[in-house]
Amino acid sequence: MTNFDYLEKEPSDKNVVNTMRDLIVYYSLEGNTQYVAEKLAEQLGAEVLRLVPKKAYSDKGFAKFFWGGKSAVMGEKPELEAYSADLAQFDRVIFGTPVWAATFTPPLRTFITEQADKLAGKKFAAFACQGGSGAEKTFKKLAKLIGIDAFSKTAVFNEPKAKWTVAKDTQIEEFGRELLAGRYE
Ligand SMILES: Cc1cc2nc3c(=O)[nH]c(=O)nc-3n(C[C@H](O)[C@H](O)[C@H](O)COP(=O)(O)O)c2cc1C
Repeated sequence: MTNFDYLEKEPSDKNVVNTMRDLIVYYSLEGNTQYVAEKLAEQLGAEVLRLVPKKAYSDKGFAKFFWGGKSAVMGEKPELEAYSADLAQFDRVIFGTPVWAATFTPPLRTFITEQADKLAGKKFAAFACQGGSGAEKTFKKLAKLIGIDAFSKTAVFNEPKAKWTVAKDTQIEEFGRELLAGRYE
C-alpha cells in the first residue's frame, strides 16, 4: 500500500463501469447507416468497422436499385476490401445495414460468413435504415445467417440522414441508451 494507490484506482474503476466492449459493423451506400453508426459509436465509445466491397455498388438511378436489389436477393457475397477486426476483443457486435429488397446488404453476408467462427458466443444487436418497410424481415434473415433466434436489441431508422429531423437524432440517442443499458442485462 502506497500513497499513490488511489491514482491506480480510477482507471480500473472506469473499466468496471465499461465492461462490455462493442463493435459496430456496418455497410452504407448513401450515408444513412453510416450516420447512425457514427453517432452510436460516439455514445457507446464503440469501435466501428465499415465494410467496403471491392466493386462499389452504383448509387445512381435505376442501376442502384437493379444491381443492389439483385445482389441482395441472390444472396451474393461480394469480396470486401481488406479489413482488420480482432473480434476476440469484443463482447457484442452491433450490425448496421440499409434495407435492400426487404433484406440486409450483401457485404454483411460476406463478413458474417468469413467471421462465423469468431462471432460464435457473442451478443448481437442490429439496426437498419430504410425508406419504407422491410426492416423486420431484414432482422430475421440476418439473425438466421448468424445462427441466433433474434437480436437482443434492434432499431429501425427511416432515412435518418437524407430526411433528417431532430426527432430522428433523438431516436438514435434513445437506441444508444438502450444499448448502454443492455450491457448489464
Ligand atoms: C437496392 C436498394 C433496395 C432498397 N430496398 C428497400 C426496401 O426493400 N425497403 C425500404 O424501405 N427501402 C429500400 N431501399 C432504401 C434504403 O434502404 C434507404 O434509402 C436507406 O436509408 C439507405 O441507407 P444508406 O444511406 O446507408 O445506404 C433500397 C435502396 C436500395 C439502393
